Amino acid sequence: MIEVKNVTKTYGKKHSTFKALDDVSFSIPEGASVAIVGKSGSGKSTLMHAMSGLDRPESGEVIIDGTNILKLKSKAVDRFRSEKIGFIFQAFFVQANETCYDNVALPLEIARVSGTARKAQIVDALNIVELGDKVRQKARNLSGGQKQRLAIARAIVNKPSIIFADEPTGNLDSTTGEKVEDLLFGLNKQNGSTLIIVTHDADLASKCDMQIYVKDGKIDRIEGEQAAPVEEPEEVVVEKGPQDSREDSRHLKGVSRIGGDKESEEEE
Ligand SMILES: Nc1ncnc2c1ncn2[C@@H]1O[C@H](COP(=O)(O)OP(=O)(O)OP(=O)(O)O)[C@@H](O)[C@H]1O
Ligand SMILES: [Mg+2]
Repeated sequence: MIEVKNVTKTYGKKHSTFKALDDVSFSIPEGASVAIVGKSGSGKSTLMHAMSGLDRPESGEVIIDGTNILKLKSKAVDRFRSEKIGFIFQAFFVQANETCYDNVALPLEIARVSGTARKAQIVDALNIVELGDKVRQKARNLSGGQKQRLAIARAIVNKPSIIFADEPTGNLDSTTGEKVEDLLFGLNKQNGSTLIIVTHDADLASKCDMQIYVKDGKIDRIEGEQAAPVEEPEEVVVEKGPQDSREDSRHLKGVSRIGGDKESEEEE
Protein backbone atom coordinates (compact mmCIF):
# COMPACT_ATOMS: atom_id res chain seq x y z
CA MET A 1 0.00 0.00 0.00
CA ILE A 2 1.28 3.43 -0.97
CA GLU A 3 -0.32 6.47 0.62
CA VAL A 4 0.43 9.93 -0.68
CA LYS A 5 -0.84 12.59 1.74
CA ASN A 6 -0.91 16.32 1.03
CA VAL A 7 2.32 16.31 -0.95
CA THR A 8 3.48 19.72 -2.21
CA LYS A 9 6.64 20.22 -4.23
CA THR A 10 7.93 23.64 -5.21
CA TYR A 11 10.91 24.04 -7.52
CA GLY A 12 13.18 27.07 -7.45
CA LYS A 13 13.76 29.82 -4.91
CA LYS A 14 12.45 33.29 -4.07
CA HIS A 15 11.28 35.08 -7.25
CA SER A 16 11.16 32.11 -9.57
CA THR A 17 9.28 29.38 -7.79
CA PHE A 18 7.04 26.84 -9.43
CA LYS A 19 4.59 24.61 -7.60
CA ALA A 20 4.90 21.33 -9.51
CA LEU A 21 2.75 19.38 -7.02
CA ASP A 22 0.02 21.09 -5.07
CA ASP A 23 -1.42 19.26 -2.05
CA VAL A 24 -1.69 15.88 -3.75
CA SER A 25 -3.30 12.94 -1.93
CA PHE A 26 -4.32 9.43 -3.01
CA SER A 27 -3.53 5.83 -2.21
CA ILE A 28 -2.55 2.80 -4.26
CA PRO A 29 -3.35 -0.74 -3.09
CA GLU A 30 -0.62 -3.35 -3.06
CA GLY A 31 -0.29 -5.22 -6.34
CA ALA A 32 -2.26 -2.69 -8.40
CA SER A 33 -1.27 -1.49 -11.84
CA VAL A 34 -1.62 2.27 -12.09
CA ALA A 35 -1.28 4.69 -14.99
CA ILE A 36 -0.32 8.29 -14.30
CA VAL A 37 -1.67 10.38 -17.12
CA GLY A 38 -1.43 14.08 -17.94
CA LYS A 39 -0.02 16.69 -20.28
CA SER A 40 3.68 17.42 -20.59
CA GLY A 41 4.72 19.52 -17.61
CA SER A 42 1.71 18.56 -15.48
CA GLY A 43 3.90 17.02 -12.76
CA LYS A 44 3.93 13.28 -13.52
CA SER A 45 7.70 12.75 -13.22
CA THR A 46 7.82 14.99 -10.14
CA LEU A 47 5.10 12.84 -8.56
CA MET A 48 6.91 9.60 -9.39
CA HIS A 49 10.16 10.95 -7.95
CA ALA A 50 8.40 12.01 -4.76
CA MET A 51 6.64 8.64 -4.38
CA SER A 52 9.83 6.66 -4.85
CA GLY A 53 12.07 8.61 -2.49
CA LEU A 54 14.21 10.04 -5.31
CA ASP A 55 13.19 13.52 -4.36
CA ARG A 56 11.91 15.23 -1.22
CA PRO A 57 8.87 17.42 -1.53
CA GLU A 58 8.78 20.17 1.11
CA SER A 59 5.57 18.96 2.72
CA GLY A 60 3.33 15.94 2.96
CA GLU A 61 3.84 12.25 3.55
CA VAL A 62 4.61 9.26 1.35
CA ILE A 63 3.83 6.14 3.34
CA ILE A 64 4.94 2.84 1.83
CA ASP A 65 4.05 -0.29 3.78
CA GLY A 66 3.71 1.83 6.91
CA THR A 67 6.98 3.77 6.55
CA ASN A 68 6.89 7.49 5.82
CA ILE A 69 9.86 7.59 3.45
CA LEU A 70 10.07 11.38 3.59
CA LYS A 71 11.09 11.05 7.24
CA LEU A 72 13.99 8.67 6.51
CA LYS A 73 17.56 9.94 6.29
CA SER A 74 18.94 9.83 2.77
CA LYS A 75 21.02 6.67 3.24
CA ALA A 76 18.05 4.90 4.77
CA VAL A 77 15.97 5.98 1.78
CA ASP A 78 18.59 4.53 -0.56
CA ARG A 79 18.48 1.28 1.35
CA PHE A 80 14.67 1.24 1.34
CA ARG A 81 14.65 1.87 -2.39
CA SER A 82 17.23 -0.82 -3.08
CA GLU A 83 15.06 -3.38 -1.30
CA LYS A 84 11.56 -2.42 -2.39
CA ILE A 85 11.62 -0.18 -5.42
CA GLY A 86 12.60 -0.40 -9.06
CA PHE A 87 12.60 2.83 -11.06
CA ILE A 88 12.71 3.03 -14.84
CA PHE A 89 13.62 6.58 -15.77
CA GLN A 90 12.18 8.62 -18.61
CA ALA A 91 15.77 9.13 -19.88
CA PHE A 92 17.18 5.74 -18.97
CA PHE A 93 20.32 6.98 -17.11
CA VAL A 94 22.56 4.04 -17.82
CA GLN A 95 26.27 4.40 -17.12
CA ALA A 96 27.66 4.48 -20.66
CA ASN A 97 31.20 3.43 -19.79
CA GLU A 98 30.15 0.51 -17.63
CA THR A 99 29.23 -2.94 -18.88
CA CYS A 100 25.63 -4.13 -18.89
CA TYR A 101 26.58 -6.38 -15.99
CA ASP A 102 27.86 -3.52 -13.84
CA ASN A 103 24.88 -1.32 -14.69
CA VAL A 104 22.47 -3.97 -13.45
CA ALA A 105 24.65 -4.75 -10.40
CA LEU A 106 24.15 -1.32 -8.84
CA PRO A 107 20.93 -1.89 -6.85
CA LEU A 108 22.30 -5.20 -5.57
CA GLU A 109 25.48 -3.50 -4.38
CA ILE A 110 23.38 -1.01 -2.47
CA ALA A 111 21.27 -3.83 -1.01
CA ARG A 112 24.51 -5.71 -0.18
CA VAL A 113 23.46 -8.91 -1.94
CA SER A 114 26.30 -11.43 -1.79
CA GLY A 115 28.51 -12.15 -4.83
CA THR A 116 27.12 -15.50 -5.97
CA ALA A 117 23.45 -14.55 -5.57
CA ARG A 118 24.22 -11.25 -7.21
CA LYS A 119 25.68 -12.82 -10.33
CA ALA A 120 22.70 -15.15 -10.84
CA GLN A 121 20.19 -12.32 -10.37
CA ILE A 122 22.01 -10.05 -12.83
CA VAL A 123 22.19 -12.70 -15.54
CA ASP A 124 18.51 -13.54 -14.93
CA ALA A 125 17.45 -9.91 -15.27
CA LEU A 126 19.49 -9.44 -18.46
CA ASN A 127 17.96 -12.60 -19.92
CA ILE A 128 14.44 -11.40 -19.12
CA VAL A 129 14.99 -8.25 -21.22
CA GLU A 130 16.75 -10.30 -23.92
CA LEU A 131 20.19 -8.83 -23.35
CA GLY A 132 21.74 -12.12 -22.26
CA ASP A 133 24.25 -11.88 -25.09
CA LYS A 134 25.37 -8.38 -24.05
CA VAL A 135 26.42 -9.04 -20.46
CA ARG A 136 30.00 -7.79 -20.96
CA GLN A 137 29.21 -5.09 -23.52
CA LYS A 138 29.65 -1.46 -22.54
CA ALA A 139 26.28 0.28 -22.31
CA ARG A 140 27.40 2.98 -24.76
CA ASN A 141 27.46 0.36 -27.54
CA LEU A 142 23.78 -0.48 -27.13
CA SER A 143 20.98 0.88 -29.29
CA GLY A 144 18.42 3.21 -27.73
CA GLY A 145 15.87 0.44 -27.23
CA GLN A 146 18.53 -1.85 -25.77
CA LYS A 147 19.54 0.90 -23.32
CA GLN A 148 15.92 1.20 -22.28
CA ARG A 149 15.80 -2.57 -21.73
CA LEU A 150 19.04 -2.39 -19.76
CA ALA A 151 17.44 0.26 -17.56
CA ILE A 152 14.51 -2.13 -17.05
CA ALA A 153 16.85 -4.99 -16.11
CA ARG A 154 18.44 -2.73 -13.51
CA ALA A 155 15.02 -1.77 -12.16
CA ILE A 156 13.80 -5.36 -11.79
CA VAL A 157 17.00 -7.12 -10.68
CA ASN A 158 16.14 -6.79 -6.98
CA LYS A 159 12.62 -8.20 -7.59
CA PRO A 160 11.08 -4.99 -6.27
CA SER A 161 7.63 -4.94 -4.72
CA ILE A 162 6.99 -1.60 -6.46
CA ILE A 163 8.04 -0.75 -10.00
CA PHE A 164 7.90 2.85 -11.21
CA ALA A 165 8.18 3.30 -14.96
CA ASP A 166 8.33 6.83 -16.38
CA GLU A 167 7.25 6.47 -20.02
CA PRO A 168 9.16 3.23 -20.51
CA THR A 169 7.91 2.76 -24.06
CA GLY A 170 8.10 6.40 -25.17
CA ASN A 171 11.29 5.93 -27.21
CA LEU A 172 10.65 2.45 -28.54
CA ASP A 173 9.24 1.04 -31.76
CA SER A 174 5.83 -0.55 -31.32
CA THR A 175 7.09 -4.16 -31.26
CA THR A 176 9.79 -3.50 -28.66
CA GLY A 177 7.33 -1.28 -26.79
CA GLU A 178 4.84 -4.12 -26.58
CA LYS A 179 7.51 -6.46 -25.28
CA VAL A 180 8.39 -3.99 -22.56
CA GLU A 181 4.71 -3.61 -21.66
CA ASP A 182 4.26 -7.38 -21.49
CA LEU A 183 7.33 -7.64 -19.31
CA LEU A 184 6.08 -5.03 -16.85
CA PHE A 185 2.54 -6.41 -16.68
CA GLY A 186 4.02 -9.90 -16.31
CA LEU A 187 5.91 -8.76 -13.20
CA ASN A 188 2.74 -7.12 -11.94
CA LYS A 189 0.59 -10.22 -12.42
CA GLN A 190 3.06 -12.99 -11.62
CA ASN A 191 5.14 -11.46 -8.82
CA GLY A 192 2.39 -9.21 -7.51
CA SER A 193 4.63 -6.15 -7.93
CA THR A 194 2.75 -2.88 -7.79
CA LEU A 195 3.25 -1.19 -11.17
CA ILE A 196 3.07 2.58 -11.52
CA ILE A 197 3.56 3.76 -15.03
CA VAL A 198 3.56 7.21 -16.64
CA THR A 199 2.21 7.06 -20.14
CA HIS A 200 0.74 9.19 -22.92
CA ASP A 201 -0.64 6.03 -24.50
CA ALA A 202 -4.40 5.72 -23.85
CA ASP A 203 -4.38 2.00 -24.66
CA LEU A 204 -1.65 1.30 -22.16
CA ALA A 205 -3.39 3.44 -19.52
CA SER A 206 -6.65 1.52 -20.02
CA LYS A 207 -4.86 -1.78 -19.38
CA CYS A 208 -4.08 -0.61 -15.83
CA ASP A 209 -6.39 -1.17 -12.84
CA MET A 210 -6.34 2.51 -11.98
CA GLN A 211 -5.77 5.78 -13.85
CA ILE A 212 -4.60 8.88 -12.02
CA TYR A 213 -5.05 12.04 -14.09
CA VAL A 214 -2.68 14.86 -13.16
CA LYS A 215 -3.33 18.45 -14.20
CA ASP A 216 -1.24 21.49 -13.25
CA GLY A 217 0.28 19.72 -10.27
CA LYS A 218 -3.07 18.53 -8.90
CA ILE A 219 -5.03 15.31 -9.14
CA ASP A 220 -7.71 16.02 -11.70
CA ARG A 221 -9.48 12.69 -11.22
CA ILE A 222 -8.90 9.03 -10.47
CA GLU A 223 -10.57 6.35 -12.56
CA GLY A 224 -10.74 2.59 -12.49
CA GLU A 225 -11.13 0.09 -9.82
CA GLN A 226 -8.98 0.08 -6.77
CA ALA A 227 -7.50 -3.39 -7.14
CA ALA A 228 -7.90 -5.80 -4.27
CA PRO A 229 -4.71 -6.22 -2.28
CA VAL A 230 -2.56 -9.17 -3.30
CA GLU A 231 -1.96 -11.36 -0.29
CA GLU A 232 0.81 -13.50 -1.74
CA PRO A 233 3.93 -13.76 0.38
CA GLU A 234 6.69 -11.55 -0.88
CA GLU A 235 9.56 -13.32 -2.57
CA VAL A 236 12.63 -12.57 -0.49
CA VAL A 237 15.66 -11.98 -2.65
CA VAL A 238 17.80 -9.61 -0.66
CA GLU A 239 19.51 -10.07 2.67
CA LYS A 240 17.62 -8.05 5.18
CA GLY A 241 19.65 -6.13 7.71
CA PRO A 242 18.58 -5.14 11.21
CA GLN A 243 14.94 -4.19 11.76
CA ASP A 244 15.21 -0.44 11.67
CA SER A 245 16.36 0.74 8.26
CA ARG A 246 17.72 3.91 9.84
CA GLU A 247 20.18 1.65 11.63
CA ASP A 248 21.07 0.04 8.30
CA SER A 249 22.34 3.25 6.82
CA ARG A 250 25.64 3.01 8.65
CA HIS A 251 26.46 -0.15 6.69
CA LEU A 252 26.19 1.72 3.43
CA LYS A 253 29.50 3.14 2.40
CA GLY A 254 30.36 4.96 -0.78
CA VAL A 255 27.37 3.75 -2.75
CA SER A 256 25.28 6.42 -4.36
CA ARG A 257 21.73 6.26 -5.58
CA ILE A 258 20.71 4.98 -8.97
CA GLY A 259 21.57 7.43 -11.69
CA GLY A 260 24.44 8.90 -9.70
CA ASP A 261 28.15 8.14 -9.93
CA LYS A 262 29.44 4.96 -8.50
CA GLU A 263 32.62 3.17 -7.79
CA SER A 264 32.82 0.22 -10.11
CA GLU A 265 33.21 -3.10 -8.35
CA GLU A 266 34.32 -5.92 -10.66
CA GLU A 267 32.70 -9.26 -10.05
CA GLU A 268 35.32 -11.61 -11.36
N1 LIG B 1 14.34 21.19 -11.45
C1 LIG B 1 13.32 21.93 -11.80
N2 LIG B 1 13.32 23.27 -11.61
C2 LIG B 1 12.27 24.05 -11.96
N3 LIG B 1 11.13 23.57 -12.50
C3 LIG B 1 11.06 22.24 -12.71
C4 LIG B 1 12.14 21.36 -12.39
N4 LIG B 1 11.78 20.10 -12.72
C5 LIG B 1 10.54 20.20 -13.23
N5 LIG B 1 10.10 21.47 -13.23
C6 LIG B 1 8.81 21.96 -13.69
O1 LIG B 1 7.78 21.26 -13.00
C7 LIG B 1 6.70 20.96 -13.87
C8 LIG B 1 6.43 19.48 -13.82
O2 LIG B 1 7.53 18.78 -14.40
P1 LIG B 1 7.50 17.21 -14.62
O3 LIG B 1 8.85 16.82 -15.10
O4 LIG B 1 6.99 16.58 -13.39
O5 LIG B 1 6.42 17.10 -15.79
P2 LIG B 1 5.86 15.80 -16.53
O6 LIG B 1 4.40 15.74 -16.28
O7 LIG B 1 6.68 14.62 -16.18
O8 LIG B 1 6.10 16.21 -18.06
P3 LIG B 1 6.57 15.30 -19.33
O9 LIG B 1 5.35 14.57 -19.80
O10 LIG B 1 7.00 16.34 -20.33
O11 LIG B 1 7.69 14.41 -18.90
C9 LIG B 1 7.10 21.48 -15.24
O12 LIG B 1 6.49 22.73 -15.45
C10 LIG B 1 8.60 21.64 -15.15
O13 LIG B 1 9.06 22.67 -15.99
MG1 LIG C 1 8.06 13.43 -17.20
